[in-house]
Amino acid sequence: MDIAVLPGDGIGPEVVEAALPVIGKVGLDWNLQFGDVGWPFWLSDGDPVPDATWKLLERTDSCLLGAITSKPAREAESELPFALQGLDRKFISPVIQLRQRLGLYANVRPVADIHEGRFNFAVIRENTEGLYAGFDYHGLSNPLWELVKDHPNAAQSGADNSSVTLRLQTRAGIDRLLRFGFEYAVSQHHQLLTLADKPNVLRSSSNFLRSRLEIMAEEYPGIETEILNVDAVALWMVRRPERFGVIVAENMFGDILSDLGAGVMGGLGLASSANLGDHGSYFEPVHGSAPGMAKQSKANPLAMILTISQLADHLGNAEEAERIRKAVRTVVRDGTALTYDLGGRSTTREAANAVLAVL
Ligand code: IPM
Ligand code: MG
Repeated sequence: MDIAVLPGDGIGPEVVEAALPVIGKVGLDWNLQFGDVGWPFWLSDGDPVPDATWKLLERTDSCLLGAITSKPAREAESELPFALQGLDRKFISPVIQLRQRLGLYANVRPVADIHEGRFNFAVIRENTEGLYAGFDYHGLSNPLWELVKDHPNAAQSGADNSSVTLRLQTRAGIDRLLRFGFEYAVSQHHQLLTLADKPNVLRSSSNFLRSRLEIMAEEYPGIETEILNVDAVALWMVRRPERFGVIVAENMFGDILSDLGAGVMGGLGLASSANLGDHGSYFEPVHGSAPGMAKQSKANPLAMILTISQLADHLGNAEEAERIRKAVRTVVRDGTALTYDLGGRSTTREAANAVLAVL
């Protein structure tokens, strides 16, 4: 297997470096090919994903990504060197570029109780459309203004002082996500698929989603389905996480719920993710690049190590994947080699080495 490794920036390179030895340790024979991505390439070239990296992704089977800094438009543009300013360069988060351009529509984020094994579910987040589809406007031209102008707040503020974001949901996008959710539930032996949406407010779009769910559910009689308001899902994830199996949600709802899931697990230091499409994939820890923490050897490498186990699973190496997860559980339960976020004092490398020692 040829695997691209994009360490990224911030704490990305150090968690990747500490975690990679796990691959060889469990006997996975992956050919790792390193590439560039992230903030330094935005600053030097005005694009955080260099061409050479797209080519690398084309010729490899999958990809491991460390972490990448994403900043809002104004900060991103103001940090560009003078020569690149005013050229209308738009910073688009590299992870969003990867997901949209490679069609990686399903973002699988497992939420497991690593300490006591009380719960084990997954948030499957739609990754290419929904509220993050890219239709986000401030200062409204027609016909957007026509659409909203009678809203009392819009009428008061005017077109220049109103903004609109569109939640794009398409039949193709919904169906492939739901299909993925059902198949995932079957493969992981979950009996319940929860659609986290907002049918009591977003009436038309939620109704559309519901109708697609109902049609597909008929093909999976062994899987119970429910549609819950996303706020209620947030409440129940904290109160009774063991009630969930597979939670499917549109892009922004899934983004928020999956961070909540990380919190329920004990922090972002344990949250891994897979970004999957029909013709490609990449794998990354859910945490960000935490630039303020970089190069201090404080970051937790376990999310990256669990991400490697997700990749192993995806490539058909279920046994190796389970061995890695088990070793992480042993280290977390033992508690003597944990990084600060889990209440310990170990460095990134010490925590990773503890996993290697168990393996
Ligand atoms: C995530 C992150 C990204 C997202 C950001 C960095 C664009 O929060 O993967 O959850 O919102 O998708
Ligand atoms: Mg997020």
